[in-house]
Amino acid sequence: MAKRILLVCLGNICRSPLADGLLLRKIKEQNLDAIVDSAGTANYHIGKAPDARMIRTAAKHGTALDFLRARQFTSKDFQNFDHILVMDQSNKRNVLKLAQTQDDEKKVEFFLDYLYPHQQLEVPDPYYGTSEDFEAVYQLVDQATDALIQKLFHEH
Ligand code: 4NP
Repeated sequence: MAKRILLVCLGNICRSPLADGLLLRKIKEQNLDAIVDSAGTANYHIGKAPDARMIRTAAKHGTALDFLRARQFTSKDFQNFDHILVMDQSNKRNVLKLAQTQDDEKKVEFFLDYLYPHQQLEVPDPYYGTSEDFEAVYQLVDQATDALIQKLFHEH
């Protein structure tokens, strides 16, 4: 059965669409069976394309993000996804507020725990940052998506 993976950040215009686009690209390249999507806990940017700076940074590395559109995380996402991967502590709190069962809660993990297990590290929000910050986030999320694919598709 396809693994269903949801990436979550605050606005769904920088970090989670990057992870979404990178995973979609790698899953296609590696012919893996997965459903991937992303969402934001906030409603500020619903319907918008990812941040132009994030699109540009990803495009430089051959990863397309321009087709993605922001949406807000909802409690229904607990039924539609097996892995709900958050970018920071605040995302985690907001997602867990909508959990209805312990099974729901168990689906929520830190995205970076796939790269740095059990450390609960956050992907820094580049929104108020420089182009170097966007590049650093790209490198981090690129590594973390490789680690995630290794763990979810090759170690079970
Ligand atoms: P993201 O970044 O959560 O990685 O999409 C942000 C985007 C927008 C805002 C904050 C963070 N904002 O405050 O509008």
